[in-house]
Amino acid sequence: MTGIPSDLAPPAHQAVLAAGLDPAALPRHLAIIMDGNGRWARARGLPRIAGHRKGADAVRELVTHCAEFGIPYLTLYSFSSENWKRPLAEVEGLMGLLRRYLQSEIDTLHRQNIRFRVIGTRERLSDDIQKLIAASEEKTAQNSGLTLVLALSYGAREELVQAAQRLACAVRAGSLAPEAITEAMISQHLTTADMPDPDVVLRTSGEQRLSNFMLWQAAYAEFIFVDTLWPDFDKTALITALRAYGRRDRRFGGVDG
Ligand code: IPE
Ligand code: IPE
Ligand code: MG
Repeated sequence: MTGIPSDLAPPAHQAVLAAGLDPAALPRHLAIIMDGNGRWARARGLPRIAGHRKGADAVRELVTHCAEFGIPYLTLYSFSSENWKRPLAEVEGLMGLLRRYLQSEIDTLHRQNIRFRVIGTRERLSDDIQKLIAASEEKTAQNSGLTLVLALSYGAREELVQAAQRLACAVRAGSLAPEAITEAMISQHLTTADMPDPDVVLRTSGEQRLSNFMLWQAAYAEFIFVDTLWPDFDKTALITALRAYGRRDRRFGGVDG
């Protein structure tokens, strides 16, 4: 496998072995499209927000396990640029959960040596949430464990448009020739600039689509689709997914051996 965290700290190494996983076959960057909260709630006759609340619990648990396994990057698609279309009450409910998550979790994340980051159009979020995000990023910036990335008001097409606009400005200013634009330059103008591309894009709830997530970055990601609804995604489900990833043969256009 490639894209492997090569220097797992001894406790992470032990946790990985104890889970029956191969430390040499872990993703460097696991990206998850957390889907199915609404269906989880509907199946129980509960309001959709109850599913989102339970989904937030699943996030807390997952983050702990990823940190424990020494996975370097975890990106969670939490709110898409298209999710603003949802009924106001649901959007407000989700923003309330996000606010509470930021208020209650950051100290715990910091203690776990987790570096917190947000990608997406954060300017669309409320001022107080933007402030909480900035404070959380600042507080955890020097941590060296898991980098936890929340994709909030994130849309890959929007991100690519912004990159194109910035490069076009450089061309207009005369500091960049169009033919000098490289793949690396485009990557550098995305919000994920300093992160490795995802090795895995995992989506829960049985849907098999990207829904505008990491269109550029997922060029060579392994896709894993599971039927589990997000609120039910637990440690066992994570281990099963990591094992499936470990069995994949990544060729990147080359040939075996
Ligand atoms: C994922 O669950 C959470 C967000 C998109 C914010 P959904 O809310 O999409 O749940 P389903 O797809 O309706 O079951
Ligand atoms: C994708 O889920 C976005 C997130 C998980 C945050 P959606 O539920 O919004 O996607 P569609 O509408 O089913 O494609
Ligand atoms: Mg959905």
